[in-house]
Amino acid sequence: MIKIKDLTVSYKSRTGKVRALDSVNAEIGNGEIFGIVGESGSGKSTMAMTIMGLLPRNSLIEAGSIEVDGKEIIGLKPEEARKIRGKKISLVFQGAMNTLNPLMKIEDQVAEPLLIHREAKREEALRRARETLEIIGLDSYTWKKYPHELSGGMKQRAVIATAIVMNPGTIIADEPSTALDVITQVQIMNILRRLQREMDITVIFISHDFPLVSEMADRIMILYGGKVSEVGSNRKILEEPGHPYTRGLINSVPTMTPGRRLEAIPGEPVNIRDPPEGCRFRPRCTFAGEGCETYSYKPVEAGQGHLVYCVKYGEGKNAGSS
Ligand SMILES: Nc1ncnc2c1ncn2[C@@H]1O[C@H](COP(=O)(O)OP(=O)(O)O)[C@@H](O)[C@H]1O
Ligand code: SF4
Ligand SMILES: [Mg+2]
Repeated sequence: MIKIKDLTVSYKSRTGKVRALDSVNAEIGNGEIFGIVGESGSGKSTMAMTIMGLLPRNSLIEAGSIEVDGKEIIGLKPEEARKIRGKKISLVFQGAMNTLNPLMKIEDQVAEPLLIHREAKREEALRRARETLEIIGLDSYTWKKYPHELSGGMKQRAVIATAIVMNPGTIIADEPSTALDVITQVQIMNILRRLQREMDITVIFISHDFPLVSEMADRIMILYGGKVSEVGSNRKILEEPGHPYTRGLINSVPTMTPGRRLEAIPGEPVNIRDPPEGCRFRPRCTFAGEGCETYSYKPVEAGQGHLVYCVKYGEGKNAGSS
């Protein structure tokens, strides 16, 4: 279980400080697929990097806590945090396949984490690497190949094998299939789903692609400009979306709105360097009105585990006919 509380993370740059995550709360249960969706710049990768302890030097965790299986990992010395995270969480990110070592055979790359962490001697490490490659759908034909001899999808699978060879409880997949062709995308999704089902791995699935996330995830968190706008079960989010932004996302997907008019969300994405007062979605929201400018992001409970961060939701005034 990963418990994130009031997480606030900013980056320093020459032009000042930007807050990429602002008081984010989330609970990620063991064995679920937890989807994080939001447009580019909404803070998704910052969230992944914070959990992994891989934030760059110009970042600052201003507030908040992350508990992994009951242990706080923020504020610890890097090596202590690494021990707790250690084998428990691993990351697959967009373009990770380009980080494969071009001079190393696939089976050796997959075995490497076991050798580095002294989990196994070479023979045993190779055996486990091959076993993992098979689970991921790469058969013996690929084991002794070099990265350049494999397709993009096969390489991304090898990356996933490297990420799971240590048996982590959780895998964070940050845009794992973006930039891959559709068929390969589907294969990667199926692998992640199988890992969750058959190996009971928790998957944190991150993408800007709302239909993809809603197809994958058991629960979904929607980020907008570094803030959570809604979180809930997949079914509730799709059937009873509570936030105008969520409804906008659903209405802008052709296949999700049979017989309904397709509508793009009006306006521009929020500039987090200079966010509006109160609700960040305000300049684009057709329901904006009294209370939105001073909204402090107190969530409204729409059902069990379903939180809507909209001041009008509680008043029943944001549902309209859109
Ligand atoms: N290393 C960095 N230095 C400065 N700003 C950054 C850095 N990484 C990300 N940001 C900024 O933080 C915000 C969130 O970025 P990110 O977490 O990468 O979003 P996403 O993954 O949703 O696209 C963006 O405005 C981005 O420009
Ligand atoms: S708080 Fe106001 S501006 Fe923000 S989503 Fe709700 S109605 Fe729209
Ligand atoms: Mg990202």
